[in-house]
Amino acid sequence: MSKIVIAIDGYSSCGKSTTAKAVAARMGYGYIDTGAMYRAVSLFFTQEHVALSNPREVVSALENIHITFNFNQRTGRNETCLNGLNVEEEIRKMYISNIVSEVSAIPEVRRAMVAQQKKMGRRRGVVMDGRDIGTKVFPDAEVKVFMTADTYIRARRRQRELLEKGELVNLEDIIKNIEKRDLIDTTRAESPLVQAPDATLLDTSHMTIEEQVDWVIQQADQRI
Ligand code: C5P
Repeated sequence: MSKIVIAIDGYSSCGKSTTAKAVAARMGYGYIDTGAMYRAVSLFFTQEHVALSNPREVVSALENIHITFNFNQRTGRNETCLNGLNVEEEIRKMYISNIVSEVSAIPEVRRAMVAQQKKMGRRRGVVMDGRDIGTKVFPDAEVKVFMTADTYIRARRRQRELLEKGELVNLEDIIKNIEKRDLIDTTRAESPLVQAPDATLLDTSHMTIEEQVDWVIQQADQRI
């Protein structure tokens, strides 16, 4: 059976990653969380005090960043590693969410990440989630999904996720963060978040994760 690429793009906190991960597991495909890559870059830039407005500093910092995903047998989870260190927990914190859209709008950052993502998916058989997968990274993806959901519902989901990890964040702050990220992501000059003309829109406001997963798998089944 031929292997395909499944691109899941959309707004922040619509359930893209959870859905993508489960689809990949059910299909025996690899899963690549491209948002985690931009988060890891943001963490490195913060740690190294990189001036975001200085392209030379940005390019030289990017040369020292190596991002990998390790599958943890014990937890059954994919963990993001930055230069060999597990940063999975750190990159999900609010202080990273608050800067990641500015970092990911930098053209040099996008170029470096997109090149890596193309390489990671070159053998196909991957589910990749992000903001520009169907438009820029894999414009030839066989399945393209564009996810959206009501902002309040997204914020509640995000708040629950953060709480499960021990971080208590005010709902208003989460709504502000989601709206700010969506605005930067949709209006940036370099590959802004936009629905690819051949992507199917999925509003997850009133869907369970299981329903979302089944829906994507149905789309995939029609193209294999
Ligand atoms: O998917 P997640 O919400 O973790 O992504 C964090 C941020 O990374 C997004 O808000 C967006 O600014 C950026 N991003 C991006 N392109 C991608 C994936 C994420 O610009 N392909």
